[in-house]
Amino acid sequence: MQIIMKAKYLIITMALLALACSLTSAYDPSPLQDFCVAVKDPASALFVNGKFCKDPKLASANDFFLSGLNIPRDTSNPLGSNVTAVNVDNLAGLNTLGVSLARVDFAPYGLNPPHTHPRGTELFIVLEGTLYAGFVTSDGDAGNRLFTKMLYPGDVFVFPFGLIHFQLNVGKTKAVAFASFSSQNPGLITIANAVFGSDPKINPDVLTKAFQVDKKLVEYLQKQIWLSNS
Ligand SMILES: *[C@@H]1O[C@H](CO)[C@@H](O)[C@H](O)[C@H]1NC(C)=O
Repeated sequence: MQIIMKAKYLIITMALLALACSLTSAYDPSPLQDFCVAVKDPASALFVNGKFCKDPKLASANDFFLSGLNIPRDTSNPLGSNVTAVNVDNLAGLNTLGVSLARVDFAPYGLNPPHTHPRGTELFIVLEGTLYAGFVTSDGDAGNRLFTKMLYPGDVFVFPFGLIHFQLNVGKTKAVAFASFSSQNPGLITIANAVFGSDPKINPDVLTKAFQVDKKLVEYLQKQIWLSNS
């Protein structure tokens, strides 16, 4: 009898351990080799892992190098912000490594509008200025909670995987921040652009009911030019 009880506890313990292990598994796979520099021409490629990889013997320091992130970007667009992304598309050596970054410039009162990264968590680090930053949690019980923070130089804020987030420069001066991502290419969905600026347009009946507003407002929004800041 006691042995059966013990066996039961053992099985429950093992099941809980298995659950804990599956909950802590990472999103990006661990690299299978030192590096895999992305290359477009299959003729000079060795093997496939997401993108073609350059023969490691042909790789050089420049495959892992990019400069110019110290240069302030032009923020004279309607949003007053400019995102310079550094990912596998312009830094080929990032391929399979599961990280990337961006520089974000803000004009006074500039906005990086609500958006999500479908493939990565973001670490946001302020170098200059004062930013009001926030993210909203998923739907569900007690869902759609807003987490915000006023950020000053040296402050770090985390935008968890896939959640809608934004940053607004609340200062009279420009602001500069850097972001790092847990993906070689985190992707970007700007909410307003995707919903009101899709090509072709979403049937206005869908958005009228979804947003519970007048159809004219939806049609007005769909007529706007939804610019990207990156
Ligand atoms: C961002 O800045 C660069 C360089 O300053 C400029 O060429 C680019 O057009 C700007 N992008 C936007 C969306 O304003």
